[in-house]
Amino acid sequence: MNKDKTTVYDCTMIELSKNHREKGNLTVVQNEKEIPFDVKRCYYLYDVPGGEERGGHSHKQLKQLIIAASGSFDVRLDDGQVKRTFTLNRPYQGLFVVPGIWRDLDNFSSGSVCLVLASEVYQKEDYIRNYNEFLEWKK
Ligand code: TYD
Repeated sequence: MNKDKTTVYDCTMIELSKNHREKGNLTVVQNEKEIPFDVKRCYYLYDVPGGEERGGHSHKQLKQLIIAASGSFDVRLDDGQVKRTFTLNRPYQGLFVVPGIWRDLDNFSSGSVCLVLASEVYQKEDYIRNYNEFLEWKK
């Protein structure tokens, strides 16, 4: 995949396994099964104050699966030409985000947890944090 030519239409909502029982629910995510990459890193956002926005960057190489493990929030994607907003509010759905997509996360509900499974370890060189720089990079 040509990283700078990716579009928001390459980003899809993946339906994960649902093991729903009277005693509670369980969802599994496995490398190369439910998701099209191997997970090297996992992190989660929580206690995001009401009205706060996260994200505000693009990645050059990183693939991610974003899950609302609890509560809800919006993920606003932008490939430089088209914008698409996904509301995440089901722990058994994950938003697959390809490289080269600007993302902003907002509308975090109280107590929400944003779980991110990532294809690479943390590398600050992989981030583009300036929107104009991102637009240049996409050209
Ligand atoms: P940042 O990427 O700005 O968070 P978000 O995009 O969700 O708003 O990361 C916040 C801080 O955490 C920043 O100083 C970098 C650090 N960080 C790590 O050290 N390792 C990681 O894996 C991530 C995702 C962030």
